[in-house]
Amino acid sequence: ARWQTCRQLARELLLVGPDDKDLKLRYLDVLIKDGIPETDEPKDVLIIGAGIAGLVAGKLLKDAGHNVTILEANASRVGGRIKTFRSSDDAADGPFHDPEQYAEAGAMRLPSFHPLTLALVDSLGLRRQLFFNVDVDPDTGNQNAPVPPVVYESFEPGKVWKHGTDSPDFREPVKRFNSWIRTNRIQARRKEYAADPSCVNEGFHLTGDEARITVADMVNQALEPIRDYYSVIRDGKRVNKPFAEWLDGWTRVIRDFDGYSMGRFLREYAGFSDEAVEAIGTIENMTSRLHLAFFHTFLGRSDINPNATYWEIAGGSWKLPDALAQELRKELRMGERMIRMEYWDPRRDGGGARDVGPIGAQVAVQTVPEDDPNAEPTVWKGDFAIVTVPFSALRFVQVTPPFSYKKRRAIIETHYDQATKVLLEFSRRWWEFTEADWKVELDSIAPGLYEYYQRAGEDDAEAAVAAAHNGHRPPRNLPEVLLGAHASVDERRISQAQREVYQHTPLLRASVRPATHCFGGGSTTDNPNRFMYYPSHPVPGANGGGVVLASYSWSDDAVRWDSMEDDERYVYALRNLQSVHGRRIEVFYTGFGKTQSWLRDPYAFGEAAVYTPHQMTSFHLDVVKPEGPVHFAGEHVSLKHAWIEGAVETGVRAAIAVHEAPPPPAQAEPEIRPEVQLRRESRQEALRG
Ligand code: FAD
Ligand code: ARG
Repeated sequence: ARWQTCRQLARELLLVGPDDKDLKLRYLDVLIKDGIPETDEPKDVLIIGAGIAGLVAGKLLKDAGHNVTILEANASRVGGRIKTFRSSDDAADGPFHDPEQYAEAGAMRLPSFHPLTLALVDSLGLRRQLFFNVDVDPDTGNQNAPVPPVVYESFEPGKVWKHGTDSPDFREPVKRFNSWIRTNRIQARRKEYAADPSCVNEGFHLTGDEARITVADMVNQALEPIRDYYSVIRDGKRVNKPFAEWLDGWTRVIRDFDGYSMGRFLREYAGFSDEAVEAIGTIENMTSRLHLAFFHTFLGRSDINPNATYWEIAGGSWKLPDALAQELRKELRMGERMIRMEYWDPRRDGGGARDVGPIGAQVAVQTVPEDDPNAEPTVWKGDFAIVTVPFSALRFVQVTPPFSYKKRRAIIETHYDQATKVLLEFSRRWWEFTEADWKVELDSIAPGLYEYYQRAGEDDAEAAVAAAHNGHRPPRNLPEVLLGAHASVDERRISQAQREVYQHTPLLRASVRPATHCFGGGSTTDNPNRFMYYPSHPVPGANGGGVVLASYSWSDDAVRWDSMEDDERYVYALRNLQSVHGRRIEVFYTGFGKTQSWLRDPYAFGEAAVYTPHQMTSFHLDVVKPEGPVHFAGEHVSLKHAWIEGAVETGVRAAIAVHEAPPPPAQAEPEIRPEVQLRRESRQEALRG
């Protein structure tokens, strides 16, 4: 039985359908090219949640002629965990000082091996541009040529799916690896670390062979035997084994390793020392995930790695859900939070359901408005439902009759990770500066300020002023506090609360740091910011500045920030950013930040499903299964947790399943379903009016 479970999970993971067909090819054709065939038996479908999964399912079903209603709790926007902080047309004030600036609270990068997402972006007419996970040399490559097509190479021999036209002139810029690693107070550029890992590694007390190899190589070597299960090295490149062995290999990986946490794998299987695990955890972003399933990090390593190409949506990720929502305006009901769901399943005792039965509506959903949770609930009825809300949110919905035992366990237990982002706006893109740029910009504030920061940068401004007689003479006309001192900053917009926290927060030994000189990419530190990302491109029309993702953290690293008020978060994030980039960046801080804790988000209830050891084998197959007329979609239903691609896959899959499901019993006799008839009529009336 365990082998059968692992085999079925491998099929889920690799999207191997019945008859060993590639489901990804089918989903791509359905979503991008052919749609779902038009129906002559329209079904009434309730979709819960207008995140990307719900929107994709809604569009496919609507285009096939079904009657779709999408119930979304959030009254003000669709997209769920695709959320961009940006100025909107109807609000006077944007999130940042420069109204053109925007930044991602959630999804930001789309890997080249996620074809459903990329082809969807293209087919909706949105513009994509490269996202640089690693900083680049901007004078290389040719990004102005049209973007290359989306290509998916199937496991079915010889089958390649393609969308878009070839663009032979398009070339990615060269990766430069200029960004920083700063751990144990030792700071090196990534390229320096690659050339000589010992200095950074010795900070972690690594000795002998372990000190002489990068932590990325350590992990990759440890993973080689796992990859051997399903692939071989041919001419220096990994290639999958033939279909049957490939599927078998993945089945065995799941059987052998689903019970491992990443920490246990590194210690027990790979035999690394504690120090090595600490270094790997810190630099490869695993510390916060060592207790979580090996599988999550293993799959993630093929997702987030320096060799992959990533894209972003020009203008912000929000454009993707928004473009779909434009086509679903009539179907969307905003500000409707599902609090109760009833469904009819002949195999199950009705359990007190009032609004469903063997004849008539098969599903009934009760919602309350966001601004009035105590209001009399509205009842929505349909033949089928597709539930896309995260299981962490579904946990608070009453379901009658209760779902099957294993589904309930999955809803209760699915581990959701936390993620927190802190974004800070600067009036200049200092991360791109050379030392010469720094000199010009700082001396424009007060002649000599550049030198001053070089010599006295470690002290805070007041101390430096006091020390003036001590040889560290501050430049004349030095503002009392240098926060936001550059002429491009309107200092009055820096709140008093932030100023106060800033003055009372000591600098974490941020003395002089060399110019970062990074275009895109990100730096890593063991200070609480953990992962920092520089914008890949300037925002067109913006005033010369940009928004830095000053801190992007997961799990325990992320929850620390939740104990702070927003203003404190910004200042701490700035202080920690200074410890890597030098104190002088303060002159460009506009006082505008945005922060998002996904665990605190009342619509997401966490970042994303990330299994703990054993969860995949204990219940993932039950997560996927429909419960009578109720189907499920969303990133948690896929095995691409925490990716848009997983949510899209399951949205397409649920839409196909609902379309192909036998019509509900009453469908043949519409006269006995007056309420459905009534709703159809009123909908048609609304359409006419
Ligand atoms: P959601 O987007 O959560 O949609 C669910 C919807 O249901 C929401 O709109 C919610 O408001 C609504 N809802 C909740 N409860 C109820 C209720 N009771 N009644 C009615 N409606 C309800 N993916 C990438 O591809 N690239 C990335 O770079 C990336 N980075 C990420 C970074 C962060 C910090 C996070 C949090 C996620 C990231 N992801 C990324 C993952 C991606 O954002 C998600 O996988 C995807 O958006 C999930 O879509 P979904 O439709 O499954 O769920
Ligand atoms: N898609 C996410 C990103 O690009 C991955 C998040 C993984 N999350 C986690 N808690 N491990 O950042």
